[in-house]
Amino acid sequence: MEAPAERVDIRPVLIKDDLLIQVMSNDGRATTTKNYVPKDFSVEQLLNSGFANILVETTEIEYSLRISKKGEALVSEKKSTSTQNLDHDRKKNRLLDPSDPFLIEIGISDKNGTVKPTRQDKFMQVEEFLRLLTPTLSAALEADHIAAPTSEKPLQIVDLGCGHAYLTFAAHQYLRTQNMDIHVVGIDVREASRKRNSEIAEKLGIAGSIEFRAEEIAATKNTDVNVAIALHACDTATDDALAWAVKNGAELILAAPCCHHDMQAQLTDIPEPWSLVTRQGILKERLVDIMTDAIRTQILRILGYRVEAIEFVGGEHTPRNLMIRAVKTGAIVPSEEIDRYTSLLAMWKVKPALAARLASELAAAGVQ
Ligand SMILES: C[S@@+](CC[C@H](N)C(=O)[O-])C[C@H]1O[C@@H](n2cnc3c(N)ncnc32)[C@H](O)[C@@H]1O
Repeated sequence: MEAPAERVDIRPVLIKDDLLIQVMSNDGRATTTKNYVPKDFSVEQLLNSGFANILVETTEIEYSLRISKKGEALVSEKKSTSTQNLDHDRKKNRLLDPSDPFLIEIGISDKNGTVKPTRQDKFMQVEEFLRLLTPTLSAALEADHIAAPTSEKPLQIVDLGCGHAYLTFAAHQYLRTQNMDIHVVGIDVREASRKRNSEIAEKLGIAGSIEFRAEEIAATKNTDVNVAIALHACDTATDDALAWAVKNGAELILAAPCCHHDMQAQLTDIPEPWSLVTRQGILKERLVDIMTDAIRTQILRILGYRVEAIEFVGGEHTPRNLMIRAVKTGAIVPSEEIDRYTSLLAMWKVKPALAARLASELAAAGVQ
């Protein structure tokens, strides 16, 4: 079954003295909110529509139901001490506390613990990136795509092209607050970044579980990885990151690409009637951006990942707001998917950077 949404949150809300049911539906791209009078809303229909995880929160108890791969319902319950909140315009929960010392040290927040106006967009990018990372990670752990981390074998997270390491530190801090055993590595070619980030890690007293290296992504060796992340690694550095993640067996990849110069430069022989689009510079640029990411997702799919391209943050925080989210399942794609991929490359006469980096893996998967 395919559920009608990626996630649905249902809760009671009070609007002008009427108790209504608020339903927030997220399709992986955007959230739609609707309020229903209780008699017009059927929860049974949703419960029977293919969701694998259901969480029911009351003021005293939490029930959690998971449907296993074999179709069995696994139910667990734990005590809760929540209070009911019937506000209909409840503010989104923050994952990161702006006054957390790590945000002050890395320069996102000022010394009073307020996010600096110039860093608001980066703060939002990082927080929304985490908002997608955490449920994806939980689902991968629950489905046994990733082995449960332990203190001897912590979850290995590698941030490729980490720069000032806003995301690297945020992932480390946030997952630690979730009591997860983790080890985080930030890779960036710039020695100045490594030095600055390592000093901050020392100062925060977390250097035992987060480390930084000054290396080319492609040259990074001897690094275990479960989760590979990359936020705005420039141009083909995103391809380096994806290729590195695949070659090193990352079970989860979340990458938000940056600029796409490589394929822009390759598009000289436009298959007709597409010159209708590409004759306008801005349309060509957007088309090539989309093609580059579509080809990346298809390569990952061919190599055994379940892949989605989703919007991870509102466009007002960055125009580069697409995320490629991939979970390694080992599924073998039907041959039509390979044909579709090779036909697209032949039609546009392009050689994607990612295909070059993963040539032997693609050949092994049957791509001629
Ligand atoms: C636009 S910045 C993004 C930094 C960070 N992820 C963020 O979102 O704030 C891209 C970073 O990737 C690094 N980079 C680019 N190509 C790289 C490569 N091939 N290997 C390692 N780092 C690379 C750059 O040095 C730069 O710090």
